[in-house]
Amino acid sequence: MKIFHFDELGSTSDYLKEKKDKKEWDLVIADVQTSGRGRRGNLWISPTGAGLFSFALKEDPNLSMEEYSRLPLIVGIALLHGLKSMVELDYKFKWTNDVYLYNKKLSGILVEKVGDFFIVGIGININNLEFLGASKNGISLKSATGNRYEVLDMIKAVVNSFKKYWNRYLRGEWDEILYEINEKNYLLNKAIEIEFLENKISGIGGKILENGRLEVETIDGIKEFMVGEIHIKL
Ligand code: BTN
Repeated sequence: MKIFHFDELGSTSDYLKEKKDKKEWDLVIADVQTSGRGRRGNLWISPTGAGLFSFALKEDPNLSMEEYSRLPLIVGIALLHGLKSMVELDYKFKWTNDVYLYNKKLSGILVEKVGDFFIVGIGININNLEFLGASKNGISLKSATGNRYEVLDMIKAVVNSFKKYWNRYLRGEWDEILYEINEKNYLLNKAIEIEFLENKISGIGGKILENGRLEVETIDGIKEFMVGEIHIKL
């Protein structure tokens, strides 16, 4: 695993996407990002003290796109356990791929495909105390515990955790991984509104299914969602 560490970059994911000679597991880290990107075109405010990094995963021709559709969920649970191995707190996994702590967003994941690579970009609020833009409702490890953490150690723990989970997935352990994901399912039994395309549907969050979809109990019965922005109703 080769680490490319910068004081400042536009976006670690953009850097890796554009890197011509990238290799699997290349890891790009920035202390600050000037144009950090979140999902759905959101800006990801990327101040110093946050963990801002992207790594490259080479597409395996033996895996189908359906199998790859679970990648964001696997990154999510690996991120949660990587964090837990460093700082023992009650993290939750918010489908499709955020990590929450005490009902606030701690970390976000952006998975993109470029050529025969998947670029996994992760932002973790670690020592920063600003959570603007996409993570308005944010929390950092420092704001939660009052302690400062070593950002590089945290990033390495997350990437190593992902490697372990990915190997398990390749060995056919999806059922066990899914069980772990459901144990941390933040949306379970919560009143939610799911927004996708031009639609908004209300319901009660259910379990995450074998196909990676979220089950939602709506007034029209149980529905499954593959994508969508989730709002928690208070
Ligand atoms: C989200 O929650 O919307 C996803 C946020 C992903 C942010 C990370 S920070 C490192 C990498 N570089 C980017 O520009 N975005 C991702």
